[in-house]
Amino acid sequence: MSVRKAVIPAAGLGTRFLPATLALPKELLPLDRKPAIHWVVEEAVASGVETVILVLARGKEALLHYFMGNPSLKGRKLDSRLARWTEEVAQLRSRVELVAVYQEEALGLGHAVLQARSVVGDDPCAVLLPDDHFLPSPLPALVRGHDERGMGGLALRKVSPAEVSRYGIVSVKKADAPHFILDAAVEKPSLESAPSDLAIMGRYVLPRGFMRRLADGRPGALGEIQITDSLHAEAMEHGLYGYQFTGTFLDLGTWEGYLEANARVAGSTPDLAARLSNALANPPGPMPAA
Ligand code: UTP
Repeated sequence: MSVRKAVIPAAGLGTRFLPATLALPKELLPLDRKPAIHWVVEEAVASGVETVILVLARGKEALLHYFMGNPSLKGRKLDSRLARWTEEVAQLRSRVELVAVYQEEALGLGHAVLQARSVVGDDPCAVLLPDDHFLPSPLPALVRGHDERGMGGLALRKVSPAEVSRYGIVSVKKADAPHFILDAAVEKPSLESAPSDLAIMGRYVLPRGFMRRLADGRPGALGEIQITDSLHAEAMEHGLYGYQFTGTFLDLGTWEGYLEANARVAGSTPDLAARLSNALANPPGPMPAA
């Protein structure tokens, strides 16, 4: 069976975007006009996904409202350049079944994914983290890897020695770059103990039956369930496919990365690029303290 379901975890606290995330889900912050949540749903659908399960936290319902359209706009004459955006969202919405589940406490990524178990069942599923933006998407390669090899798959990226201890890092059994067969995964290793410099990025294909493995996983000291532990068990038992991503990676998970991502995207649009370089050459000076 191919990959027809995708889980999008969006129940995190978003502390790196405080104070905006006191009221605003960070997954609604836009990259080049469209919110991060739009990009990942679109990416999933483009890879053949028919059902998207959004994992929400209380107070983050605006993520669902985004896809429902705004009744206050009904009957209003919008400039066609603006109407285009609401049409684009409605069109995306019409191409996918959206299901929301709740994660009542932010107990980690594995725990968030596990909340989708009642919808995913034993089926294979994709997982997309809205924080990570890839150009182009590595998901089609992961789906192909799954269908051809019968394995779960992970998007991988070579990271610098300074970054190794911030990511899940994989151990490689067989390499034919960009394709790898993995036999272990370790969460945030020290540089000395890291099995490679290939980090797990925010696109996964979880194989059939993986939810059972996640549910059986032992929670950490704070009750959190790390997905890397279950990926490790899967890699040891059945192997995992790794696809090394070498395109453009934009990190929307930190404030600095978010600003940089928007600047890079704006910089690739000719009229915005000129405006942006002019703006950068004319800073307003330090912002006054509140
Ligand atoms: P992050 O760790 O980057 O998001 O998780 P966060 O926890 O919201 O961020 P900070 O560290 O507080 O700034 C990546 C994705 O996984 C989701 C997040 O919403 C984000 O989309 N997530 C994370 C959950 O759904 N539940 C969790 O318990 C943790």
